[in-house]
Amino acid sequence: MMNEIYENYNHLIDLNQYSVEQWDDMLRLAADIKRNPRIYENSCIGKIMGTMFYEPSTRTQMSFQSAMLRLGGGTIGFVNPQTNSSVAKGENLKDTTKVVSGYCDVVVLRHNLEGAALAAAVNADCPVINAGDGGHLHPTQTLTDLMTLKEETGSLSGLTVGLCGDLKNGRTVHSLIKALSCYKNNKFVLISTESLRLPDYIQEPLKAKGAEYYEISSLEDAFEEHALDMLYMTRIQRERFENVWEYRSQADKFILDTEKMKKAPEKMLVLHPLPRVNEIAIEVDDDPRALYFKQANYGMYIRMALILQTINYELNNSPVLIGELRDDLECRNMKCITRAETYLPKSFKKSVGESGDIYFCEYCEESVVGI
Ligand code: NCD
Repeated sequence: MMNEIYENYNHLIDLNQYSVEQWDDMLRLAADIKRNPRIYENSCIGKIMGTMFYEPSTRTQMSFQSAMLRLGGGTIGFVNPQTNSSVAKGENLKDTTKVVSGYCDVVVLRHNLEGAALAAAVNADCPVINAGDGGHLHPTQTLTDLMTLKEETGSLSGLTVGLCGDLKNGRTVHSLIKALSCYKNNKFVLISTESLRLPDYIQEPLKAKGAEYYEISSLEDAFEEHALDMLYMTRIQRERFENVWEYRSQADKFILDTEKMKKAPEKMLVLHPLPRVNEIAIEVDDDPRALYFKQANYGMYIRMALILQTINYELNNSPVLIGELRDDLECRNMKCITRAETYLPKSFKKSVGESGDIYFCEYCEESVVGI
């Protein structure tokens, strides 16, 4: 059963383009790789992974690199396009992707603009993996989170999950909620300030699946009112704010420390995609419920599984864009890739609303474009 409408099995833009069964296969493969790494150590000999990172990264970038090296493959790429690529000379995403994808068997892309991974896939000659596109999605972090939960709790269903911090701009939260809402009986407790609430386009899948969810503004209330199995702490995404004052008005509102951990459920796992700034006090690291460093390690194994599953298939020819091509419509989201890369085909998905048809930009999803 497909969760979503995409049919291209090679690119990984949004996890929901694949089925829950496919995610479960990937999780099983990753667990096997973790147990028996030697069996897999030569499985990517002669293959090359290209990393195109337009935004800073430690874990995603290095775990992808070590994953490929542990499979016997090689890596090329850039982590700072302004100093070590022709992006500094003004090259667009299309040309960079076209060329790099000709050198590689898989391209891993992180970009500051929403919808950039889909935009790259449109012009790529090898599979593209989305390693984070602005404040939109981060599917490989979600695979990491799913693996952590699966290995540590034994199940991905029937969980009460708290998510705290920047739910508006946190791409890890968006992808994780979309994924966990596809498993049965998961309940979500969304803990944020009013201005950093979960955007509508991520609340929609929760509503569509009939998932139980609550929006609250205090960690203590979350602990008191809900038996959380997991708390997913997130960083306030400074780089996504208009200015430093807006950021400061939101920073340090939620800090998990040992005092709060005393009130938290005894078995509540604490996850965080990292990097942390202040939202988890360092003293919490010694609490056995703090799993974030272990979580980062799971990330390497799930990325090994993902590389194996991606690289062993020929790029199929199904169209990457499946929306309506409409030159008369324009995405209004200033952070959408179509604003910067104006040559991109303008593609929209239609949804039938009470007051007529509503169009969503296929790249960034968030913006609603009326006609
Ligand atoms: C996250 C990201 O880049 O979105 N980090 C990561 O990939 N592990 C979270 C963050 O930057 O806050």
